[in-house]
Amino acid sequence: MNDNSIESYLNGIQRAHDEGLIEYASHYVPEAGIMKFSNHVPWEIDGVKYQGCLSLTNTRPLCYIAKLVLNFFQNDAIRFLELGPGAGNACYDLFYFAKEKGETVEISTVSYTPINPYMPILLSGEQLLDVLSRNKNLRFIAEGPQGPLWYILTEEVFCTQNEEGIQIFGMLDKPYINYQYIGNYPQNIDLGAVKFDLIYDMLGPLHGKDLEPINDACSHLTDRGILFFLFDTRYTPGKILIEGAKKGNTGIFDDSDSVIIDIETCSAIVAKKGSELSASLRKKWDPKKQTLHTYDTAGLLLSLLS
Ligand SMILES: C[S@@+](CC[C@H](N)C(=O)[O-])C[C@H]1O[C@@H](n2cnc3c(N)ncnc32)[C@H](O)[C@@H]1O
Repeated sequence: MNDNSIESYLNGIQRAHDEGLIEYASHYVPEAGIMKFSNHVPWEIDGVKYQGCLSLTNTRPLCYIAKLVLNFFQNDAIRFLELGPGAGNACYDLFYFAKEKGETVEISTVSYTPINPYMPILLSGEQLLDVLSRNKNLRFIAEGPQGPLWYILTEEVFCTQNEEGIQIFGMLDKPYINYQYIGNYPQNIDLGAVKFDLIYDMLGPLHGKDLEPINDACSHLTDRGILFFLFDTRYTPGKILIEGAKKGNTGIFDDSDSVIIDIETCSAIVAKKGSELSASLRKKWDPKKQTLHTYDTAGLLLSLLS
């Protein structure tokens, strides 16, 4: 069989499952039963078949803020969890980044669909659009604030890779994602007693209407742990976070946590008391203040790092 086929991608998922790297919830219903543009593999859940596609919404690289946050963990092994990894670009970015720096990072994910941890996707959404722009199977849906919204079936991406000799998926001997939890988070995914140093959610399950996923994620942070996520101001969590940003305290987190709310990008960082980030924040600003608001998280983190 051709090693660059959708079948080999799915076989790698099966292999990872056989090796104990993927845990499936026994029964779950994916988001509104559609998952149109976030599911990157053709997949069947409880008898319902879904098409898999790559799009701008499931191929985002690790964001700059997360890269800055990594600097607050001094050369230590980091336990990283991504909630809603899409096709896995951010995880692969982190894996590659750590490898280049000779650092150790253990990567876990929580998602509706599994990723082949032996075949990372090498291009971000923007790079994919460049490479695929002449492909007749590329579908444009609309023009969004960040550019055109588009999708292409994942099997077509493999065809392009083979026909045009462009390397879109890589091949690894060792998995870049160490463990995957598959199901509907947090309803039927139990992370047990496992804790993580950095939990990252880029428009995944924390970007929703309920507080429960945010509370659950916080309960899985180590003493030096940091949570990063984006929120939606139309929903309850977003409203609470914006209100908390104004008051200097966000009721949903512990008073001993340090919280940064970015009003501009609608992102939140929650740093546990034992983290270096929290210590730097409390030293620089009012040590009693739990929540800071900013319009420029990157600038704020850079000022702490300088
Ligand atoms: C819009 S995609 C974002 C993907 C990636 N973070 C990115 O920015 O490219 C949403 C991701 O969150 C996952 N997801 C959303 N809600 C979820 C839930 N309640 N439980 C598990 N996974 C969820 C989807 O499976 C998908 O991987």
